[in-house]
Amino acid sequence: MTNYDAGDVLTVHGGTPLNGELRVRGAKNLVSKAMVAALLGETPSRLYDVPAIRDVEVVTGLLELHGVKVTNPSDGEFVFDTSDVESANVDEINVHAGSSRIPILFCGPLLHRLGHAFIPDLGGCNIGGRPIDFHIQALREFGAVVDKSEKGMDITAPDGLKGAKLELPYPSVGATEQILLTAVRAEGVTELRNAAVEPEIIDLICVLQKMGAIIKVHTDRVIEIVGVPRLVGYSHRPVPDRIEAASWAAAALATRGDVFVKGARQVDMMTFLNLYTTVGGAFEIDDTPGEGGIRFWHPGGELKAVAMETDVHPGFMTDWQQPMVVALTQARGLSIVHETVYERRLGYTAALNQMGATIQTYRECLGGTPCRFGRRNFMHSAVIAGPSKLHAADLVIPDLRAGFSHLIAALAAEGTSRVYGVKLIQRGYEDFEGKLNALGAHVELG
Ligand code: EPZ
Repeated sequence: MTNYDAGDVLTVHGGTPLNGELRVRGAKNLVSKAMVAALLGETPSRLYDVPAIRDVEVVTGLLELHGVKVTNPSDGEFVFDTSDVESANVDEINVHAGSSRIPILFCGPLLHRLGHAFIPDLGGCNIGGRPIDFHIQALREFGAVVDKSEKGMDITAPDGLKGAKLELPYPSVGATEQILLTAVRAEGVTELRNAAVEPEIIDLICVLQKMGAIIKVHTDRVIEIVGVPRLVGYSHRPVPDRIEAASWAAAALATRGDVFVKGARQVDMMTFLNLYTTVGGAFEIDDTPGEGGIRFWHPGGELKAVAMETDVHPGFMTDWQQPMVVALTQARGLSIVHETVYERRLGYTAALNQMGATIQTYRECLGGTPCRFGRRNFMHSAVIAGPSKLHAADLVIPDLRAGFSHLIAALAAEGTSRVYGVKLIQRGYEDFEGKLNALGAHVELG
């Protein structure tokens, strides 16, 4: 473990319940997209409650390279002035290659503003193949010409972008966002079938509507977008981060603690709350305007094993899976987890086994309905036998959500663990170290 600097290693003295209060801000998976949407507006946009996370830095860098003036007039408030949008230098864009999935969403806005776009090779978490075929196919149907170049993708629209009839093979979040951000200013009407309808997507639609877009969300995952010739800036307060909220909820359960997550909203987390209760966790909603949140705690006694599967909204989010599995190592009996969104999102369980958990992964679709990954060579189901006494270990963080799960496991385990690569967690969790200290955890960098 010699490749990590001191700021990238967290020493965790585990075994203490997390107790106290923290606040979640705007959802990472909306904020970054709303920042891209600002490019479409001819007047400045204002976004509130933006968390200080690495993904926001990456998108800020990309916007600035394209001539957007980004200012931060007060804590969490960002203003995007798009009066001088310009082409960016390919080598400068490439500095951001591999650091995030967001650059792919610049296609539509840049095509509308500049007539061409260059997209670097993408990064993001290594949790599956993460192809972008749906994105490319949709862009082509709008009339874009996509050429693979040595350093990324060159995209042009010699005849402009025209509305299209589209159907996604799977309700992909990113591809739905790609289509929304492109269709709003394409000529004519776009009909999208099998769209993703996550709360962050509905919130992006709210942002676009504030900008002047006409978007109708019909039943059965059908979205209709009527293209308009111009859009203006927006002012928006994003949906709260329901992934971060659930991560802390799972941490409270796994450490037998009691955590009030200010800013968390019931409506975005109903599926999570159902599972939380089934496992034996307790929660209480405070819906006082501006002050509200959800208190999550371990009520004592034993947790119960469950069978669960991840799915697109309104199912149980794939990003909730990893933190909850740590809590399930403390439940009595056999829990079953079927991951149906990403084919390789259970690799992190090896580290939990190293800490004393008993988790077996399978290629078969266990429990629930067969998914796209059944009969293929992907370990996408798991059986967790509990309760297990977790002990400390040296852990290397593989991706964002698995990384937070490693952290929860280290907090729940007896003894001192060292967690390597914690900077990855900063991609999506604001000041997690400060929050941990405020909750009474014994952690220090280095
Ligand atoms: C978003 O990723 C989130 N990322 C993910 O959160 C989240 O797990 C995921 O949606 C599902 O909710 C951001 O919003 C930045 P998808 P995205 O397109 O849009 C397949 C986190 O930790 N697919 O819905 O990339 C794909 O392989 C991250 O915050 C194709 O086959 O996810 C996957 O199996 C991790 N071809 C499934 O669809 C495509 O062109 C769902 O992916 C696109 C996707």
